[in-house]
Amino acid sequence: MLNCRIIYPLYICALNHLPIHSLLAPLRAAFSRHAQVILEAPTGAGKSTALPLAMLDWPEISGRILMLEPRRVAARSVAHYIASCRQQKVGQEVGYRVRGESKISANTRLEIVTEGILTRMIQQDPELTGIEMIIFDEIHERHLTTDLGLALALEVQASLRDDLKILAMSATLSGLALGELMPEAVTLHSEGRSFPVEIEYRPVPTQQHWLDYLGRCVLDLVSASSASVDKMATNNAVLVFLPGKGEISRLQQFLRERLSHDAFLICPLYGELSGAEQDSAIAATTDGRRKIVLATNVAESSLTIEGIGFVIDSGYKRQASFNPKTGVTRLGLKRISQASATQRSGRAGRLSAGVCVRLWSQEEHGRMLRADEPEISQADLVSMAHNCAYWGAKSFSDLMLLTPPPSVNEALAWQLLQRLGMVDSHNKLTSHGKAAYELGCHPRLAHMLLGAKSLGAKISGQAAQLGSLACLLSGILEA
Ligand SMILES: Nc1ncnc2c1ncn2[C@@H]1O[C@H](COP(=O)(O)OP(=O)(O)O)[C@@H](O)[C@H]1O
Ligand SMILES: [Mg+2]
Repeated sequence: MLNCRIIYPLYICALNHLPIHSLLAPLRAAFSRHAQVILEAPTGAGKSTALPLAMLDWPEISGRILMLEPRRVAARSVAHYIASCRQQKVGQEVGYRVRGESKISANTRLEIVTEGILTRMIQQDPELTGIEMIIFDEIHERHLTTDLGLALALEVQASLRDDLKILAMSATLSGLALGELMPEAVTLHSEGRSFPVEIEYRPVPTQQHWLDYLGRCVLDLVSASSASVDKMATNNAVLVFLPGKGEISRLQQFLRERLSHDAFLICPLYGELSGAEQDSAIAATTDGRRKIVLATNVAESSLTIEGIGFVIDSGYKRQASFNPKTGVTRLGLKRISQASATQRSGRAGRLSAGVCVRLWSQEEHGRMLRADEPEISQADLVSMAHNCAYWGAKSFSDLMLLTPPPSVNEALAWQLLQRLGMVDSHNKLTSHGKAAYELGCHPRLAHMLLGAKSLGAKISGQAAQLGSLACLLSGILEA
């Protein structure tokens, strides 16, 4: 586990001078009169760290604060950082809950959770007993489960808990219909705090595979900059954005064969890694080696990775898209959007001025999508429909969603739930649907698990084998 007590206190003073501090008084004033606030502040303002840290000392907040972070690695890292700023261990006043792991105690007042956890918490206790504030961080990322969490929280506030405070935060509000969804909300803006980043466009030559070229670019960058950056400089680390763990391990292998282990520390960073491996990618190196972090887009927002002064962006991401013709979701290699490229390059200017190399041309940049499409427009909606039914809604139009889904995708999701016997012909949850929801996995897998259990009970002696086979299969498929 990251030894935060050694590193973090150095930053406590820095947190006191962040732009968000000028907004704390207006924010308190806004919450004294309104239950909803929308906050727009560019990256580095202190939204994810300094703001919830300050709230812990507001006497008017006596209940718990829940803060939603879209990614597990960010939830854990932000919780560790805020806890260390209060000179505590995580799990005391500041804790986190992500799928399969939690560090909270009876004293926890600020709980950082990921999206699935938030929707389950609301579904299990719609009165949200003891919770006084929900903060939606990175609301512009528009993950399906964040949209759902916000819809459920708004409904709880409107029907059961008019004292519940909701804060929606974003680095950019452009294109977000938040004002329509929360017409009573006060909107506040602040400056960000980041440093200039020099952008260099280096398109991949036509004869070369982009990953080979990327490997060469990393070698060029570290050798060209090794003369100009001080070995002990705090901002000499390199962050490389790649689409997925396959490309990460190939590049890791390529670099390991060519760079000295004594001079370079190569750290992969993606969602499925263990907490300790993620921590070592995020923490500063203490042995003078230069760090090269090979990351997926988990490093695109929320995280502050120690010492990054250089970013190399492949321009790719791996994304799931649902095909309504086949009913199948496929992971594919996609070009990122301009908004994503800006976020990625901004990582080089988080702690000081930096450099970003983009593996595409400036002309191509102009042709990239301006912003990512929200997940609700392209995802499989079966789990969402299942959540909707558990909530007692019979159509997505009953929920306060930022964007409606494509109607064909919604219809397919309800049809599948009906075929699985999880909802009736009016989309009302059945007892089978309820039992499946409580298992916490995708409805298809939950159906298999419940089916194996009941079938096993009918065939004597087979119950244990069928049940464990189904558990094994769903574990592999959900991993
Ligand atoms: N884990 C961390 N390690 C070191 N500094 C951090 C860390 N997290 C945040 N900071 C400091 O706090 C500043 C604000 O970060 P953050 O609250 O994440 O901003 P925002 O959410 O508005 O983008 C960063 O620029 C950095 O100086
Ligand atoms: Mg943030």
